Amino acid sequence: MSDEKINATTGTGLTGETAVGTTTATGGEPANRAARAAGEKESATVNGGYAPDVRERLERDAKEIIGRYPKPRSALLPLLHLVQSEDGYVSDAGHEFCAEMLGLSKAEVVGVSTFYTMYKRRPMGQYHVGVCINTLCAVMGGDQIWDELSEHVGVGHDETTADGKISLERLECNAACDFAPVMMVNWEFFDNQTPASAKQLVDDLRDGKEVSPTRGPKKLCTFKEASRVLAGLPDGLAADGPTAGDPSLEGLKIAKAKGWKAPEA
Ligand code: FES
Repeated sequence: MSDEKINATTGTGLTGETAVGTTTATGGEPANRAARAAGEKESATVNGGYAPDVRERLERDAKEIIGRYPKPRSALLPLLHLVQSEDGYVSDAGHEFCAEMLGLSKAEVVGVSTFYTMYKRRPMGQYHVGVCINTLCAVMGGDQIWDELSEHVGVGHDETTADGKISLERLECNAACDFAPVMMVNWEFFDNQTPASAKQLVDDLRDGKEVSPTRGPKKLCTFKEASRVLAGLPDGLAADGPTAGDPSLEGLKIAKAKGWKAPEA
């Protein structure tokens, strides 16, 4: 395993260990300023917790999510996405909220949130851009894309631009190797990238141009909106746009043409 934490969507590898930290840090306050500069609404906090109206809204959503599980503590991963959808990262107020709603200690909540790479420790950009640098993407150009994009944007891994619009992350395989080298923006796929297309994509996002993922919905949501979907609160776009692309379906077509079947169990 690399020095990255584990992906919170897969939920694999949860051992309760303290996470290995990310490699570069900008600190919370500059990133908070960046989020404000991006014009994203920040949650009002009172004495370190959420303001009453925010709290009431979050509680309503949290109760719906918790009700789906036999034990409240099983709802921790979606609840962490929920608070991330409020703040753009898992804030101290977010940790406190999850602990309170689930009857856990704050240490237990922090132990989980710091273990998974999808939970952020400082505000991410409105558009969180991931570049896959795992083996296949790397040899197909992912390493070059990362180097050029990071220099172009002027930030490193898990860092956010001063205008709060773009954050970058080195990603470890998005299970889209047949479209290598792959990038993601707010977890939507951008396939078969080059350094030039990657820089153009980020420039378009910063300029407010409409950008469509290669697969999935035509409309690209913000990082906070994506976090809300990951919390289990759908935006109604799950079935929009193309899903599997031709390279992914090639094996199936060959198997059908040759009459191949999986052996009986
Ligand atoms: S190596 Fe990049 S998607 Fe698998």
